[in-house]
Amino acid sequence: MTSNPYPLGLRLDGRRVVVVGGGAVATRRVPALLDAGADVLLVAPELTPALRARVDAGRLHWVPRRFLPEDLDGAWLVQVAIDDPIAAASVSAVAAERRIFCVRADDRTAATAWTPAVTRHGPVTVAVLGGGDPRRAMTVRDAIRDLLAVRLVSNGTAPTPSRPDAATGATGGRQAGRVALVGAGPGDPELITVRGWRLLTEADVVVADRLVPGLLLDELRPDVELVDASKIPYGPSRAQEEINQILVDRALAGAVVVRLKGGDPYVFGRGGEELLACAEAGVPVTVVPGVTSSIAAPAAAGIPVTHRGVAHEFTVVSGHLAPDSPASLVRWDALAGLRGTLVILMGLKNLAAITATLIAHGRSPETPAAVVQEGTTGAQRVLRSTLGAVAADAQAADVRPPAVVVLGDVVSALDG
Ligand SMILES: C[S@@+](CC[C@H](N)C(=O)[O-])C[C@H]1O[C@@H](n2cnc3c(N)ncnc32)[C@H](O)[C@@H]1O
Repeated sequence: MTSNPYPLGLRLDGRRVVVVGGGAVATRRVPALLDAGADVLLVAPELTPALRARVDAGRLHWVPRRFLPEDLDGAWLVQVAIDDPIAAASVSAVAAERRIFCVRADDRTAATAWTPAVTRHGPVTVAVLGGGDPRRAMTVRDAIRDLLAVRLVSNGTAPTPSRPDAATGATGGRQAGRVALVGAGPGDPELITVRGWRLLTEADVVVADRLVPGLLLDELRPDVELVDASKIPYGPSRAQEEINQILVDRALAGAVVVRLKGGDPYVFGRGGEELLACAEAGVPVTVVPGVTSSIAAPAAAGIPVTHRGVAHEFTVVSGHLAPDSPASLVRWDALAGLRGTLVILMGLKNLAAITATLIAHGRSPETPAAVVQEGTTGAQRVLRSTLGAVAADAQAADVRPPAVVVLGDVVSALDG
């Protein structure tokens, strides 16, 4: 084949694509087909565990045998993901007879279609063909991906919209502003998500919490307006109103606003309130989940929040109110009856009252306990104790916020 290929974006929603083969190549190819909405039929005597999991989840159909010509009935595209050149050639021959494009993993020159190297940025998909050299395609793709992470800023390309986008719509005519509520992760700057990082590089305004990793802010463009939300000089609820107003005002003025929050925006992060405020003002909002400290800080201290044969549940609870506070929404007496893992955020101040209440309602004082301060950062400290002693130990060791308290047998599950 000497001519240049003709690039197309196939719209596969609900259309039958046949994949022949159930090994490593099929495992890599199938997710993108499913992502495109294709009705995938997999023909292979055996499958990798990853493909089997997708079959078990009802995401695709599997015919557990070798290929037969009638497998291509109704197909729009076939991907041959087997090494055996004779078997692959026979699939291509049937496909050619029926005028169905055929991608071949074993022999690109015998294929009637090639799969490109792809990078996706929100609604933008870039597909690169390397003239028959997949490595060249990947190198070019990687360079474009890096460039796009920066360039999409000036074009104001929107990320995948969330539900409130649909409800509120964008402001007509002029360049529309928008807000992204982005989880920055627990402290280590490398623990932000890829999407969160991309949105941060696109921002005109960043409204940041006290607990977001400082290094992320260091890398912002110099012209980005940085609003330090922890310095807003009012009490907590008034400050929240101020933050909501800043988000709305900047977005209505046309800015791309990132509200950067520690951990996950919806775990004790007031993300819901900010989303509602934006939605009410007609500002489109995207929510980017983050790695929450409730799981990551224990993990960084060598504590899995669940472990086979040890804990089948974990509960994340806020300890910012004392158990006897009339405003508390937590049933500490009921939590004392659970066997699994309890992770307490914002609980240092009330730790003595919390642990006493759990013990009074039946949780053993010998239950292993740990406190992880500034988890995942260079300043991480870990204190190990028991439910009965942890409050006094934490005080004696001068443990300070931000810290999570972990209670349960998982605390010692990985001890050698
Ligand atoms: C207002 S809550 C926000 C939680 C955040 N949205 C999350 O998902 O991690 C703040 C509390 O999270 C916990 N926290 C946040 N970052 C932490 C870290 N790096 N190490 C330990 N605890 C942390 C502390 O309990 C802190 O008081």
